[in-house]
Amino acid sequence: MPAARGGPPATMRGPLARYRGIPCTPRAAPPRADGLKSRVGERSLAVTSTARSAKACPPFRSLSDLAEAASAATRGALLEFVESGAGAEWTRRANLAAFDAWSLVPRVLRNVREVDLTTRLLGTPVHAPFFASPTAYQGAVHPAGERATARALGRAGILGVYSTLSSRSLEEIASAAPAAPRWFQLYLQPDLTASEELLRRAERAGYSAAVVTVDAPVLGPRDLQSRGGFALDRPVPVGNGPGIRSPARELVPREKGYALEGGAEYSWDDFERLVKGTDLPLVLKGVLSPEDAREAVRRGAKGLLVSNHGGRQLDRALPSLDALPDVVEAIGSRAEVYLDGGVRRAPDILIARALGARAAGLGRPILWALAVGGERGVERLARLLSSELATSLLLLGRRSIAEVDRTAVRENRWRNPPPPHATGRTVGD
Ligand SMILES: Cc1cc2nc3c(=O)[nH]c(=O)nc-3n(C[C@H](O)[C@H](O)[C@H](O)COP(=O)(O)O)c2cc1C
Repeated sequence: MPAARGGPPATMRGPLARYRGIPCTPRAAPPRADGLKSRVGERSLAVTSTARSAKACPPFRSLSDLAEAASAATRGALLEFVESGAGAEWTRRANLAAFDAWSLVPRVLRNVREVDLTTRLLGTPVHAPFFASPTAYQGAVHPAGERATARALGRAGILGVYSTLSSRSLEEIASAAPAAPRWFQLYLQPDLTASEELLRRAERAGYSAAVVTVDAPVLGPRDLQSRGGFALDRPVPVGNGPGIRSPARELVPREKGYALEGGAEYSWDDFERLVKGTDLPLVLKGVLSPEDAREAVRRGAKGLLVSNHGGRQLDRALPSLDALPDVVEAIGSRAEVYLDGGVRRAPDILIARALGARAAGLGRPILWALAVGGERGVERLARLLSSELATSLLLLGRRSIAEVDRTAVRENRWRNPPPPHATGRTVGD
């Protein structure tokens, strides 16, 4: 039967049929209610026309549409803040390309009828082995900021990691979705006692672990961001209080070179002191070398997040996925290992899992979804990704995420990978 013009065939049943004839006319976004616009400047906060009219009309239809929808919904300095990588952005691109070096090896005729995605991340039960990596200033992306993210992820049973530089306080985020799985991300403060106080607040607010980011004593040089003018020294409100310090923006020239001034450069001893001073299990974020991984575990880290900050810090740092197997080998089962950087689709999560990551984090895609649809957008991303993961797992012939091991992947023998999907990895990817 020929397809009706502009829609699926009349006989079509299933998910696509829902979209037939439903008007999805974008409506102008409501005015911002939080005053951010006037404080930060209009150019930085141009989130436009993202609200959709009909309830049945999703903020974006598929994961392939998400990046494109985000680039249409944000523009100017905000888009550049989200997208930018450091320097020539080699690491940002390499994070994505690293996944193209691996293929999944499906097994067949295993009578898999149900798949189990659930797992525990340092004891926190979650519905699927992916999580929202911490990203600063979510209030600049959507007025509801981290509150929307927390509520959406809570409903989907997905772990959210919330930045020290969140637009809402860590207590507000917790009370927006008290039952949602959540970890706190700590940017080391120049004064160790200020870092300890943040950890104490996170404990009291019911966070179940803390992620200590150590790859950003100074911000990487982000040309795109400075061109767009999203300057972090402007008064973007930080929910955790006016005393909170972000990483130093740049080094200060000295007679013999350059120096970190007023920033937070810590040693392993300081990290150990943080471990001993808190009841929260600590995860070290920004580990790429097996030597650092071993030292972190020796000093009391319970988890390691293999990450290069989405290619925003040291350009030409190795892609997270390339670093993963050596880190896993170095520490064995002495700590949990996670990965972020370039994770966009379910097969990426499976590849990371097969190479030893217990779960994989998404940074930019969460912000894209937040920009496009606020709370509904983040929930849709979490649900689409969970469902794609379930389907992929079944097609891989595995019953549970725990069954995905090294036998599930093979390094590609051919040399020139096909170009990435035209819309799955856009917005500067
Ligand atoms: C806009 C933006 C803000 C970020 N803010 C933080 C932050 O506050 N703390 C942190 O540890 N990492 C931060 N990151 C890094 C992410 O946690 C994560 O490592 C990275 O985005 C993963 O790469 P992906 O964007 O390719 O998924 C940020 C990344 C982006 C894109």
